[in-house]
Amino acid sequence: MRSENIMSIEFRDLKRQYNAIKHEVDSRISSIINSTRFISGSEVKELEKILASYTDRKHCISCANGTDAISIALIAAGIGAGDAVFVPDFTFFSSGECPATAGAVPVFVDVRRDTYNIDAAALEANIRAVMDEGQLKPCAVVAVDLFGQPFDYDAIRCVCEKYDLFLLEDAAQGLGGVYCSSDGNKMKAGKLGQISTTSFFPAKPLGCYGDGGAVFTDDDRLADLCRSIAVHGKDTENPEDTYAKYNNIRLGMNSRLDTLQAGVLMAKFPVFKDKELDAVNHVADIYSERMGNVEGLKIPKITAGYYSSWAQYTVQLPEDCNREEIQRKLKGSGIPTNVYYRKPMHKQRAFAGTRSAVAECPVTEELCNKVLCLPIHPYLKDEEAEFIAFKLKEVIQG
Ligand SMILES: Cc1ncc(COP(=O)(O)O)c(C=O)c1O
Repeated sequence: MRSENIMSIEFRDLKRQYNAIKHEVDSRISSIINSTRFISGSEVKELEKILASYTDRKHCISCANGTDAISIALIAAGIGAGDAVFVPDFTFFSSGECPATAGAVPVFVDVRRDTYNIDAAALEANIRAVMDEGQLKPCAVVAVDLFGQPFDYDAIRCVCEKYDLFLLEDAAQGLGGVYCSSDGNKMKAGKLGQISTTSFFPAKPLGCYGDGGAVFTDDDRLADLCRSIAVHGKDTENPEDTYAKYNNIRLGMNSRLDTLQAGVLMAKFPVFKDKELDAVNHVADIYSERMGNVEGLKIPKITAGYYSSWAQYTVQLPEDCNREEIQRKLKGSGIPTNVYYRKPMHKQRAFAGTRSAVAECPVTEELCNKVLCLPIHPYLKDEEAEFIAFKLKEVIQG
């Protein structure tokens, strides 16, 4: 199984990716350096056009990172003090951090054990609890496409419509994924919210060589606000005005995607779309085939008709396993692993004292103790995936 020519396994191998697309990346970078258009070069607009078309959105507004993207979206939606924003308890910190920095109160909602995504029934229970308490106004939901699989859009949208909540899709991990409704309607991640956001952090499904992010929407007014907020509240009402940047009509932030990052993303996008997504799904298929029958081990479930971009391949270990021991043994065989996430959002010290957890989140608590993320990326070789699956089985079965 393990052959000596298997090189070291990276959790996400950006070097192999760079070697595969070196020519495109290098020529983009060198042409941008030669142009010296480091900020707002033509690649930024070009990339926004390509990504808007890919996600079937009217607008894509690039920005400095995925965290800013969420903040920009929330500010544009007018969310702030006195508002409750419902956020999955099992996610990356930004999903809850941004509502809090916007002045709202994040209310953490339990997730589904099978998909790791926000649970519609738990969401409704939390909304009703907030309404009964009468202190905050239920205002918005941040629904996350966790680990690359889009959240259950129809179920969450129904709840949002019932209670008149703004729906924000945090697609930081989701770009490239596809949602499928019960009647077979498909939509790409990035389309599943009044506003959707993403991150181009290097290890994300579509990553740049630094920080980057984007906001997507079909709403002209929101798009205009996002463009303005991302650049110091610049005047976006007079697009012909070359000095609009110095005409500040609201408070905003400095959150631009720089031209070099846009150039890297332009070089990566065709391969991401045409090769990498299928390649990473092939790796996930090998894992699932090889590990599907290990007693007590839960492999990730992709809902029928959905497509994941596999930001992570996250298993749930059997009850009696010692996760640290398993990680240590795998590391001894040259296999890096990670735990996303160890702590429910509502237990983060940063949220202590904010009256945030309306309900218990037992599924999140359990997942935090049981999940283990295996190396996954489009450049993982078949024999490496087979070796990882074999070793995990071996260490679990002792
Ligand atoms: C679900 C989720 N939301 C938001 C972010 C924030 O993105 P960034 O690191 O680009 O700010 C991340 C990054 O890990 C994420 O995983």
